[in-house]
Amino acid sequence: MAYTVPKLTDYSAESLLKTFGHAKLALRDELHEVTSESEWKAVRDRWMARKNGVLTQINDQLRTAPKDAKRDFGQYLNELKQYVSQEIEGWNRFVENAPGGLAGSLGSVDISLPGIRRPIGAEHPILKTSREMCAVFQRLGYSIAEGPVIETDYYNFEALNFPPNHPARDTQDTLFIAGQSSKPQRERLLLRTHTSPVQIRTMEKIRPPIRIVIPGTVHRNDPPDASHSPMFHQIEGLAVDTNITFGDLKGTLDHAMKEFFGSSVKTSFRPSFFPFTEPSAEMFVSCFICGGSGRRESGPCRPCKQTGWIEILGCGMVDPNVFEFVKDNGYDPRKVSGFAFGMGADRIALLKYGVDDLQLFFNGDVRFLQQWA
Ligand code: PHE
Repeated sequence: MAYTVPKLTDYSAESLLKTFGHAKLALRDELHEVTSESEWKAVRDRWMARKNGVLTQINDQLRTAPKDAKRDFGQYLNELKQYVSQEIEGWNRFVENAPGGLAGSLGSVDISLPGIRRPIGAEHPILKTSREMCAVFQRLGYSIAEGPVIETDYYNFEALNFPPNHPARDTQDTLFIAGQSSKPQRERLLLRTHTSPVQIRTMEKIRPPIRIVIPGTVHRNDPPDASHSPMFHQIEGLAVDTNITFGDLKGTLDHAMKEFFGSSVKTSFRPSFFPFTEPSAEMFVSCFICGGSGRRESGPCRPCKQTGWIEILGCGMVDPNVFEFVKDNGYDPRKVSGFAFGMGADRIALLKYGVDDLQLFFNGDVRFLQQWA
């Protein structure tokens, strides 16, 4: 079925995204049905003909679009033009090379023609942030460890000193895999709520001393808004050896924050609670946006809520109860000690790049993501 250009009345970003998306899908459908050179030419002409081709028709609507929609519309149109010519050209080449395809009817390949430049993409800002943060710790001698996103109750909670029915579990509600009521609780599967289970998994495999950073995705029962998402990203750290103290924790994290945010940031530790660390703390860095004053030229500093401090991570000394679960692999709580920390990569990316809505990271709008290309 040949595509007909709809008459646009709604010029909102959503409607444009939909309309241009439909056009792309329609083109692909038409190309899929091509079985001969003449059919391929017909598709090409229908889309690309100067006079009344699909692109021309859309272009005509650009002229009558309301003023404030013109810029977005123009960007989408340019992108569509590029897509259409690439797809149509690419299809031609594809069928030329395919055995039994249009090779015969289209003649030989002209190797003197310029190639098709395919966009190569770029690293997502959250993964970039995560990689850069991990690199800071790698330079201190830490290794990268990873673990499964679908986790058992045992690793996500029990071995981290959240006993069944402990109220601390309420702060980390998540999705559970259905139909597991016949299994013992510790074997039931869920989407991990933090990267901390990888602490246990790694200590089961590697004897102390150990120094690891753990990047990964986690899930929680948080409805999406400008600062929350049911799926987000953490970076966890764990160091265990003989005689590790809270001083080591503070020194390491202070150094890491200066490396990451710049040497002028200060850190501050405030008491907190996590079942798997004791004592526990939240670490703040002095606001790298207003320099810690709580004010900017334009008025009050919003990212730090005018306090001059930004909360970055949770941390603490590994609770001896956690070591009990991996005691047989050399983690005798009377002989070793350690610290752990965990931070949200999404939040750090948000602050670092001055993005005001977390959802922008997950919508997949290329115009937003292109800023990191
Ligand atoms: N896992 C904790 C969280 O997700 C963060 C944390 C990690 C705290 C390690 C202390 C030590 O909230």
